[in-house]
Amino acid sequence: MAAVRPRGDYGIDAPWVPWMWIGYTVLYAAITIAAATLWDAWWWVVALVGLATIGFAAGAALYWHTSLRGKFVLWDRLLSQTTLSGGSSALDLGCGHGTVAIMTALRFPDTIVTGIDLWRSVDQSGNTITAAQSNATLNGVQDRIHFDTGDMTALPYPDGTFDLVTASLAIHNIRSRDGRHRAVSEAVRVLAPQGRILIADIRRAKEYATDLRAAGLTVTTFPLGWRGWWSGPWMKTTAVTATR
Ligand SMILES: C[S@@+](CC[C@H](N)C(=O)[O-])C[C@H]1O[C@@H](n2cnc3c(N)ncnc32)[C@H](O)[C@@H]1O
Repeated sequence: MAAVRPRGDYGIDAPWVPWMWIGYTVLYAAITIAAATLWDAWWWVVALVGLATIGFAAGAALYWHTSLRGKFVLWDRLLSQTTLSGGSSALDLGCGHGTVAIMTALRFPDTIVTGIDLWRSVDQSGNTITAAQSNATLNGVQDRIHFDTGDMTALPYPDGTFDLVTASLAIHNIRSRDGRHRAVSEAVRVLAPQGRILIADIRRAKEYATDLRAAGLTVTTFPLGWRGWWSGPWMKTTAVTATR
């Protein structure tokens, strides 16, 4: 079976988050040891703080798993449920290191793929256009992928250009409701008449679905399971798919 995760380095999403979980793990482990040493009559305090330590460690482990492997499994599933005819074009919004752009190019060998990003390192570690380009080269798809620097709320492409528009864990990074609305509207604007939009994100799935329905598309939303848990089920990835 072909590897689900393409070759290359894809960074860590919002890298400060797993380090925060690790910080809490270390802090609570220290409190547990101190409590066990100083207050051994209060066994339930030790047990509670010890349980919290295990919880924080599990949260950190799940986050790393989802960022390094889980999201690739989810996108492999989403793309496997998608059809594109030969000579199609695809756009990935907030492409980062090229995760979904490269997976799309590998799955659909006749498709030309564009990735656009502002390369914000707070959203993904080591986030540069050069990193995305070298991942494309490592996977032998550099001739069918083009990376642009640009804002997904004001796309530099004509109307109706792309048969597939994807956005992986990217739109929620836009702070304002208006900005996210413009990103979704831009995705719709550049979508070809029979095109499809695939979004996977940790928040705002209902908001994207509302905007897409208002734009006249047929929309479905569904949860993507534990492999899309960013520390736990309270931060889960949801898919939003839309067709004209
Ligand atoms: C968590 S990363 C996900 C990257 C990639 N889609 C993936 O799944 O590996 C979010 C990405 O969105 C990009 N981004 C955030 N706001 C953006 C905007 N307004 N326009 C374009 N890209 C943006 C960030 O630079 C970052 O690369």
